[in-house]
Amino acid sequence: MASTILLTGGTGTLGRLVAPLLLASGARLRVLSRQPRAAGAEGTVTAGGADGVEYVTGDLATGEGAAAAVAGADVIVHCAGTPKGDDVKTRHLVDAAKAAGSPHLVYISVVGAERTPVSSGLDRAMFGYVAAKRASEEIITGSGLPWTTLRATQFHELTLTTARAMARLPVLPAPAGFRIQPIAAAEVADRLAELALAAPAGLVAEMGGPRTYDMKDVLRGYLEAAGRRRPVLPVRLPGKAAAAFRAGANLAPGHAVGHRTWEDFLAGATAAD
Ligand SMILES: NC(=O)c1ccc[n+]([C@@H]2O[C@H](COP(=O)([O-])OP(=O)(O)OC[C@H]3O[C@@H](n4cnc5c(N)ncnc54)[C@H](OP(=O)(O)O)[C@@H]3O)[C@@H](O)[C@H]2O)c1
Repeated sequence: MASTILLTGGTGTLGRLVAPLLLASGARLRVLSRQPRAAGAEGTVTAGGADGVEYVTGDLATGEGAAAAVAGADVIVHCAGTPKGDDVKTRHLVDAAKAAGSPHLVYISVVGAERTPVSSGLDRAMFGYVAAKRASEEIITGSGLPWTTLRATQFHELTLTTARAMARLPVLPAPAGFRIQPIAAAEVADRLAELALAAPAGLVAEMGGPRTYDMKDVLRGYLEAAGRRRPVLPVRLPGKAAAAFRAGANLAPGHAVGHRTWEDFLAGATAAD
């Protein structure tokens, strides 16, 4: 059993669900966050608090605090991510991890990262996130560290955040021909924790939600559940990356392993809308 696990992104949607599973294994859990907790000056590990978690303040975009975060970790579960610059964050984490030893690096990536061509400036502007996930995967594969990477489809939680943001517009633009296969973050968290507590496994089978939906239907479903009326307008996105998405690059039909459907999630989540 691992004795010390570093969890990046442990304050996020996925990481918050992974943390209790790792703690329950009996491991010592350290969470890296940009937000200071209690006495945590940058790069200082605070003792385990009431939740049993140690916190270290740092920023993977700059690498500050990374050395303190990885010190003594046997396993690193890397869930920190933002729409931009995940490759840079992963590079800083990997460099710190290699300087500290040979921890098992467990990474969460996205379905389609390896088959979405992001070559033009236009592709990069719209799909730079996917390219950075792919670059992160390659940094990890080439790091020489023992590693495990899990690719998942879009979480219900992000789908809802996106739908809510778009519903503020008078007309909701839906990328024409795009389909998504959303999955509950909790189901991904279960699998990621299981992988973190096992031996390094390389690239494991990807995870997708139980059903695939047209983007416009997802948005209409949200509007209906939230009791709002807005037109949804299909918009055709240009570029090769968008074409790959229209061809289903972001879907995992052979790995529809999630159980909780978008409808179930939506019913529980839109009461406050
Ligand atoms: N959301 C999806 O649909 C989806 C699908 C497949 C894979 N993924 C991947 O799963 C991971 C988690 O996604 P999520 O939806 O849980 O994200 P989220 O809710 O937006 O949380 C992002 C986390 O990253 C941390 N973070 C961001 N920038 C950081 C930085 N510069 N240094 C250190 N920590 C930083 C944040 O911590 P602080 O704010 O506390 O610093 C936060 O804990 C990401 O890698 C994402 O690409 C997501």
